Amino acid sequence: MSTQVSAVVSAQRVALRCEGLVKRFADVTAVDGLDLKVFGGECFGLLGPNGAGKTTTVEILEGLTMPDEGEVELLGQRWNSSDDRALRERIGVQLQETQLAEKVTVVETLRLFRSFYKRGHSVEEVIRTVALEEKRNARVGKLSGGQKQRLAVACALVSDPELLFLDEPTTGLDPQARLSLWDIVEKFRDGGGTILLTTHYMEEAARLCDRVAIMDHGKVIALGTPAELIESLGADQVIEFSVATALTNDDALTNLPAVKHLHKRAEIYALTVSEIGVALPALLAEIKQQQSEVVTLTTHQATLEDVFVSLTGRMLRDG
Ligand SMILES: Nc1ncnc2c1ncn2[C@@H]1O[C@H](COP(=O)(O)OP(=O)(O)OP(=O)(O)O)[C@@H](O)[C@H]1O
Ligand SMILES: [Mg+2]
Repeated sequence: MSTQVSAVVSAQRVALRCEGLVKRFADVTAVDGLDLKVFGGECFGLLGPNGAGKTTTVEILEGLTMPDEGEVELLGQRWNSSDDRALRERIGVQLQETQLAEKVTVVETLRLFRSFYKRGHSVEEVIRTVALEEKRNARVGKLSGGQKQRLAVACALVSDPELLFLDEPTTGLDPQARLSLWDIVEKFRDGGGTILLTTHYMEEAARLCDRVAIMDHGKVIALGTPAELIESLGADQVIEFSVATALTNDDALTNLPAVKHLHKRAEIYALTVSEIGVALPALLAEIKQQQSEVVTLTTHQATLEDVFVSLTGRMLRDG
């Protein structure tokens, strides 16, 4: 059916590899020929807007969904062998939507998950790792969103996995809860663990991930370290502005000195520029020339969000 996954060429240990993954649901191709390689000890991020195919990809890698085409190898093993159970013992999985029983307490939930595995951390150890000591006897239904999410991650950690999958671990959490989850992820990686996480928070990817793959429509459209991806813009600053009366010639903006890219969304223009000191005076002169004036203007250091916008013309979070 499919080709043998090629041999390891890098000196680095490959924790996870997939080649040519395809998954279709009726007329939707959720994953459209995906190749990935995640090295041991790295935190790898899958980034993309809603519907990009992140969860489908992760669930295939986790052995929960069968791909229509392609190969998956994790920790040197494949799914659908007689060793599936042993492989499952070596990975930790936090699903995008974790449904834990509401009436059961934190400690009971973790005892249950711990009982699935031959080896692993003690329940008390994991409760400490995710800082839920005070809630150990609270029912799951009474936890806050951030506490529930920490419990879901604790369930994924209880087997002391080598490879941890986190599907949007911090979506919907407040900044404090997000920071505390980042802390858990960083500690796991510092202990030698490998992580594959999905997110549509760019700052999360930039902070946590050694490398990221930006996904759109089931394909990887960019891959690298956060710094490499931002450098690929060829510019490090973004000027966002709006004007009082519509500009008559948007193309003129693209031709201004130091301007690399123009993106316009609703009434907001975003110019990616290499030298802000050169681009800004030229921009102001051009706006005046076009008989308009600036209403709002901000500048920021280019981010992964700007990489996505420049590749697709869309914002990550509004799909
Ligand atoms: N079980 C399913 N049946 C039908 N279509 C599906 C199914 N699962 C996913 N899809 C479709 O596949 C595409 C990819 O969905 P997926 O959940 O993988 O995206 P995602 O990148 O995880 O998005 P999000 O950021 O919203 O979680 C979407 O168009 C979705 O509607
Ligand atoms: Mg998803």
